[in-house]
Amino acid sequence: MKRSKTKNSLAPRAKKCQATSGLLKEGDEVASDNKGWKVLNAGLVSVAQKIEHYEIATYGCLRGWARLLGNKEGAGLLQGILVEEKAANHALSELARFRSNNEARGECSTTDFCGDGKDAKSLNGRRGVRPVGAVSSRLVSMAR
Ligand SMILES: [Fe+2]
Repeated sequence: MKRSKTKNSLAPRAKKCQATSGLLKEGDEVASDNKGWKVLNAGLVSVAQKIEHYEIATYGCLRGWARLLGNKEGAGLLQGILVEEKAANHALSELARFRSNNEARGECSTTDFCGDGKDAKSLNGRRGVRPVGAVSSRLVSMAR
């Protein structure tokens, strides 16, 4: 508050974003916790999307504030960044939809994955792959 009273204090300065740092740490944890599991890429994509959503919210707010302050140039620049962030999020959604989520499901067949898990566990045991319940719980824990 004190700094906002003088014009010079409004000069841009670098500041570490704690939210992004936390999300990057989450990505490191997903990578290490799921190394060797087929859910790894799905988990990493989900963390990347969390970062994109955070960036979209941030740049959207900044663009709005620039507009409120009558800073058309700044609002235009922020709009450009916002478009890029939304495109990145869309690309990640497509990656999840057409690749990483299917990789994660590759631990079992579609019918196994959609069932109650009991039969799938025994089927997976015969195939020598990890049980469906373990895959499902990994995906759920990464979504939190
Ligand atoms: Fe981004």
